[in-house]
Parts: sequence; structure tokens; C-alpha cells
Amino acid sequence: MKVPPGISIRRVLKESGEWKTRFSAFYSGCEVKNVAGLDHAYFAAYSGDEIAGHSVIYLEDGRWVMDGLRVKPEFRERGIAKALTEARIHYALSRGAREVWYTCEDGNLVTACCHVRFGFRMVCDNEKKCTPATAHWYRLRITPAVLKKFPGLRFPR
Ligand SMILES: CC(C)(COP(=O)(O)OP(=O)(O)OC[C@H]1O[C@@H](n2cnc3c(N)ncnc32)[C@H](O)[C@@H]1OP(=O)(O)O)[C@@H](O)C(=O)NCCC(=O)NCCS
Repeated sequence: MKVPPGISIRRVLKESGEWKTRFSAFYSGCEVKNVAGLDHAYFAAYSGDEIAGHSVIYLEDGRWVMDGLRVKPEFRERGIAKALTEARIHYALSRGAREVWYTCEDGNLVTACCHVRFGFRMVCDNEKKCTPATAHWYRLRITPAVLKKFPGLRFPR
């Protein structure tokens, strides 16, 4: 995984009170899904002790779903969102996933741009034609071709 200089990407292992306070401040004004009751993993990008980016992946109804991708404005366009996405896909793989999902509003072009590069494709109820919904589901099928494209990703032994 290519990590921008000065940034480290880590799974949040301890969802302590201190982390919760920082989490709330980081997502202030954003709608974030409560994943407390679900199997999940938060991944954060740190610049020193500062949280530069944050994201989550959770398991719901048999699907690994990515959510909450946000990078602080002053840290954007350095590859942090890509690194957080790669870390989450890798985590899902390590948990046995063969597909990863996310949902996004049509207007959220940057998120679409960041994820579609990995091979995510829009999935609609009617496979041939998507209805004009405001949000759509996207799915990444993890195939050998995807693993080849992103050498940081691999099936666990
Ligand atoms: C979308 C977001 C996560 C991107 O984070 P980032 O760390 O800047 O993204 P990256 O640097 O990894 O960029 C990934 C790709 O998107 C492109 N990109 C990033 N920001 C872009 C922008 N504003 N316009 C066009 N392209 C952009 C990058 O150029 C890169 O493409 P490349 O590899 O071909 O150069 C960030 O802008 C953000 O947090 N936005 C707010 C998201 C939000 O509101 N989330 C909801 C929860 S609060």
C-alpha cells in the first residue's frame, strides 16, 4: 500500500473514551452510521498524533460495507483516501470477504472517483437500468485481476 509521506494508516484498536471524543470532533456536522452493534473496523490516517483521515468498514447482512471516508481539508489530495480504502479492502479480504460494498449519493463524485478506480461498479436492482435514486450501491468483486492491479492487496494464506 502506498502511504503518503509523514502519514501512517492504522486500524483503531481501542475505541476508548478519548478516541470517541476525537471521533465526534472529526465528524462534527457529518452523518455517521452507528456501527457499535456490528462487526466493524475503523481505520485512521495519522500525521503524528493528529487524525488526518478516518473511515470504517462493517459487516451487515453478510456484506462488508465501507463508510465514513473523510480526510481533513488540509490533508487532501495526497493519497490518504486511497490508502484508507486500500487498508479497508485488505482488512475485508483478511476476514474472508470476496466482495466489498459501499453506498454513495450520486452527487458525491469525489468518493465515486476514489473508489471506482479499485473496480467498484454500481449495482442496481434492475441490472440493466438504474432508477434515478439519490444514492446507489457499489460493489467490488475481488478477482485475481483486482489483486494484480493493487499489489498491496492479496488473499490471505
Ligand atoms: C473525498 C475525500 C475523502 C478524498 O480524500 P483525499 O485524501 O483528498 O483523496 P486522495 O488524495 O486519496 O485522492 C484520490 C483520487 O481522487 C482525486 N481527487 C481527490 N480530491 C479531488 C477533488 N477535489 N477533485 C477532483 N479529484 C480529486 C485525486 O486526484 C486522486 O486521483 P489520482 O490518484 O488519479 O490523482 C475528501 O475530499 C473528503 O474527505 N471529502 C469530504 C467527504 C465527506 O464529506 N465525507 C462524508 C463523511 S463526513
